[in-house]
Parts: sequence; structure tokens; C-alpha cells
Amino acid sequence: MRVLQSSESDGARALVQGHVTYYNSIYRNLPSRIQGEPNGNYLEEIGGYVARFAKILEPFVKNYISEIISGRGEMKILEVGCGTGIFMKCALELNGQVNCTGIDMDQNVIDLARKNLEEWGIGDRCSAVKGDIRKPGPEFAGPFDMITLYNIIYYFPVEERAELFRSLKNMLSKDGKIALVSSTQSNGKSFGAANLDTAVRSIEGCYALPHLNQLADQLKESGFTNVKTSKLFPGDTYYGIEAAL
Ligand SMILES: C[S@@+](CC[C@H](N)C(=O)[O-])C[C@H]1O[C@@H](n2cnc3c(N)ncnc32)[C@H](O)[C@@H]1O
Repeated sequence: MRVLQSSESDGARALVQGHVTYYNSIYRNLPSRIQGEPNGNYLEEIGGYVARFAKILEPFVKNYISEIISGRGEMKILEVGCGTGIFMKCALELNGQVNCTGIDMDQNVIDLARKNLEEWGIGDRCSAVKGDIRKPGPEFAGPFDMITLYNIIYYFPVEERAELFRSLKNMLSKDGKIALVSSTQSNGKSFGAANLDTAVRSIEGCYALPHLNQLADQLKESGFTNVKTSKLFPGDTYYGIEAAL
């Protein structure tokens, strides 16, 4: 209990809040949904919890961000589904020459990200803009040196993912890259992946976790090359995937 009360434990608090609210509802409704009842309309309420979970994954994602941006000098980064903005902060800590634009379609999440960017004193190099990446406004014209998608690919139906990658490709600079982080299908080997997969398949507006190979193939099919995958922690199916033009 003391751990949860500590000001450092917001990610753990969000995890508990998530499990007593929408995860609870997801598991209670699972039998009827398996039999064809519609998915739950949770997204509007849960954006704040979901964004705050990032605190738990931060060390692993930060290591990966270090691999893909450290030492690369000036870079313009577009972060798709930026959540709290925590990974823009990580990017700037790892490479002081980046400029980041975050896009998120949830206004509550954007409000939280803007407040955080100001509090962290990085509002001059990072911004958070409300928008849907499927219909990006002129402020997202780019070109960007890196487009990142952390913990978001399962917000797009499997059959729309290649099309999304194609449209992002057109927003990249000549030597630009795309990088994703996602939990992927574990075939029952990871409790975390199975739990998240059950949740996303039950939420209206979310879809199954990707298979790692399928994601790599969709990137290639969309014209990306040199697809590299990295396991972000042992014993799980949480991966970073980077690809070049
Ligand atoms: C699971 S959260 C991850 C947030 C952050 N990347 C992180 O790892 O903490 C996914 C975020 O993507 C946003 N999102 C989903 N689909 C989107 C879209 N089409 N355009 C912009 N944002 C989107 C959601 O609103 C949500 O905040």
C-alpha cells in the first residue's frame, strides 16, 4: 500500500485503477462477448489510465529509444499516439537535438501531455497536437526523420496497418525511419501479452495484438526495408521494430 501511495508510483496506481475498472468489466463480460455480444465502449473513459501505464514500461522503451536515436544529431520526430508525452521527454534526454511533435486523438490525453511538457520544461522542443493520424492536418506535413508508434498499433485493424505504414512513409525525410514498440502475440507464453490481447479484442476501437512476423511483413509490403526487431525484455513478447526507407 505504501508503494502505491508514493508519488513515484503513478504507473502502478494506474495499473490497479485499470484492473478494478475496465479490465474488471472486460473479464466479467468475456463469456457473453465470446458468444457474439458487442465489444465495450471503454476508450473515452480510459485514455488517462492507459497513458499513465507508460511509467511502468518507461525503462524498457527508453533503452530502445536510446538505440534508435542516440548520437544521430538533429532530428525531427513525429510520435503517433503520444499519450502523456513521456517518450518525447525520454527522446530529448537521450538526444538534446531532437524536436518532437506528438499527435493523439484523445483530447484528455493531449491536455495531460501539454501540462507535462510545460512542467518538464521542454515545451520549446516538444509539442502535443490533437489529431487522428489517419487524417493528418498540415502541421504534420513533415518531413520527419523518425516516426514512432509506441503501444498503439493495436488501435488499427490488422488489414489497415499496411495502409497506415504507407501513409507514414510519405511523411518521412529521405533517410527517415519508422520505429514501433508493441506487445505481440505470445501463443499463450506470456501472461502480460495474453491479458492485453484479451483486453484489446474486447474494446470497441481496438484490435488483436500483432504477430511479430506479420508486422515485419506489413512494413516490407508498404515499401520499408531493413526491418530490425529487438526483444525489449527477456521472457516476454514485447518488441521494438525499426525499418528504413
Ligand atoms: C495505449 S496508448 C499509448 C500511449 C503512449 N504511446 C504510451 O506508450 O504511453 C495509445 C494512444 O494512441 C492514441 N491513438 C489511437 N489511435 C490514434 C489515431 N488514429 N491517431 C492518433 N492517436 C491515436 C490513443 O488515444 C492513445 O492515447
